[in-house]
Amino acid sequence: MKARKIKDGVFWLGYIDWDRRLFDSLVPLPNGTSYNAYLVQGTEKTALLDTVDPCAVDTLMSQLEGVPNIDYVVVHHAEQDHSGTLPRVLDKYRSAKVVTNPNCKRLLTDLLEVPEDRFMMVEDGQVLPLGGKTLKFVYTPWVHWPETMVSYLQEDRMLFTCDLFGSHLATSDLYAVDEAHVYEAAKVYYGMIMMPFRAAVEKNLEKLKPYDIGMIAPSHGPVYNKPSLVLDAYQDWVSGPPKNLVVLPYVSMHDSTRIMVMHLVDALAQRDVRVQQFNLAVTDLGKLAVTLVDAATIVIGTPTVMANPHPSVVYATYLTNAVKPKLKFAAVIGSYSWGSKVVEQIGAMLPNLKLEALPSVICKGLPREADLNALDALADAIAEKHRALGFK
Ligand code: FEO
Repeated sequence: MKARKIKDGVFWLGYIDWDRRLFDSLVPLPNGTSYNAYLVQGTEKTALLDTVDPCAVDTLMSQLEGVPNIDYVVVHHAEQDHSGTLPRVLDKYRSAKVVTNPNCKRLLTDLLEVPEDRFMMVEDGQVLPLGGKTLKFVYTPWVHWPETMVSYLQEDRMLFTCDLFGSHLATSDLYAVDEAHVYEAAKVYYGMIMMPFRAAVEKNLEKLKPYDIGMIAPSHGPVYNKPSLVLDAYQDWVSGPPKNLVVLPYVSMHDSTRIMVMHLVDALAQRDVRVQQFNLAVTDLGKLAVTLVDAATIVIGTPTVMANPHPSVVYATYLTNAVKPKLKFAAVIGSYSWGSKVVEQIGAMLPNLKLEALPSVICKGLPREADLNALDALADAIAEKHRALGFK
């Protein structure tokens, strides 16, 4: 795709990666992604804000063919999907300076061997005049690396945020016009990338509140020409209370656990508790992550494999612990044939979460009447806990 004008002197550059299906060999990308860079041309100086993933180097270099000079390359974040093409850009523009903060400089030196004499350090709050366009740098550490910062283009009221507020979404839309689609993609992105750093995100949202933001330009997904879409969503995801929702990831090998899951889901629905079940044998982990953003309770369903939880459950439990959702209550359900330690083992895998344990239900072989009654009692306990949180 060619460069696209956003405002006079402000252009989108980058690459829409329609076909990418996995990020960091971990994050599913059912909708592809994009790597956005932005060009800001003042009357005296020109700045490129971030670069692109190395897979898109040819596209970026071709978009820069008509740009005779770049004075500054602002690097908001050192991860290679944004910085990986920096060495090629610096080769082309021999006098360009890398404008960043000391933490990012250290990372760029380690990751890309950017030479010392190419850097220009900026402090938190420092401005950089380009001639009729002024960039102000705001340190926003830990969204989701320690060096992250954003820039505010004062004259155009544009905030360039790199990963913050991003969405893994390939689209030909320059702006977030399909709001429901973008909201969902941004929520998955938040759940997988930003949620583990919720406290830092919350602090940085506060820090950005004084800015009059007319547009948010992230480095993944479309530009928000109505920033309230993502700003209000982040406020809810980060600091709003959890919702009347149970997330139920499970695996079943010989149907016993599946029967228990079906019974519990029905029992929860009867008690007006919303539930999302995920069969980990077929689910997209992004969908699990987006449910974890809101859920108040997790129930993990697992068969017993050599006295342990099923490996797919171990993986999902590890990720749940890593992304640090707002969950408050937890239980384990499942079955075994000759012995099981799944409740203790799953409990020990969630140290990051301050969870209140509800009565788990583990049955021997097929679930029988007493087991189904215990699931009903678990549904009662969940509904009671949710009511106590003020859920209608
Ligand atoms: Fe889009 Fe942290 O990289």
